[in-house]
Amino acid sequence: MQFRLDIIEPTPAGWIKAVMADFNAFLQDHANCERKVSSMALSFVAKYPDRTEIISALIETGIEELEHFRDVYKVMHERGIQLVHEIEKDVYMEQLLAACRNGRDERFVDRLVIASIVECRGAERFKLVYENLHEDIALKEFYHRLWASEAKHAEVYITLALKYFDSASVYKRVNELNAMESKIMLQLPFRAALH
Ligand SMILES: [Fe+2]
Ligand SMILES: [Fe+2]
Repeated sequence: MQFRLDIIEPTPAGWIKAVMADFNAFLQDHANCERKVSSMALSFVAKYPDRTEIISALIETGIEELEHFRDVYKVMHERGIQLVHEIEKDVYMEQLLAACRNGRDERFVDRLVIASIVECRGAERFKLVYENLHEDIALKEFYHRLWASEAKHAEVYITLALKYFDSASVYKRVNELNAMESKIMLQLPFRAALH
């Protein structure tokens, strides 16, 4: 069984250039993203309390994302950077979630698959950040740790989907939604932001 997904299109080089050109803005967005994925993990628990097989892993994931939020904020605080209100809409997540099918089961599996794909993209991008940080070794190591952690989360979400659905139907959606994610990602302008 394959738990680790491969994203289809790699992030273009223009993205990391935009990030490195305004790293403070990237940190502000990154912190918000960690806070939101922590809430997302817990929203599964709130929406699907009867799916007892997934609750513990989701609570654990929600805690880890909250720890990431705490850690990114610590970096920001040390640099005198404040948290910000999200000004722009998260078009990436909005377009991905719009691809969810209706129906309780269909929506459940689609949301888990999307969560996994988003974690994969996050892991890929944190790896790029890691590779492009040179002077600040502590920060470089921090992004190495995040890269590994988000890759693990990607596996967690797929494992949870496979607890309730057969692998053929899960991987069919993985392929479809993965193709859609690459298309959405490539259409977005490069910003000093995670997406
Ligand atoms: Fe995270
Ligand atoms: Fe994550």
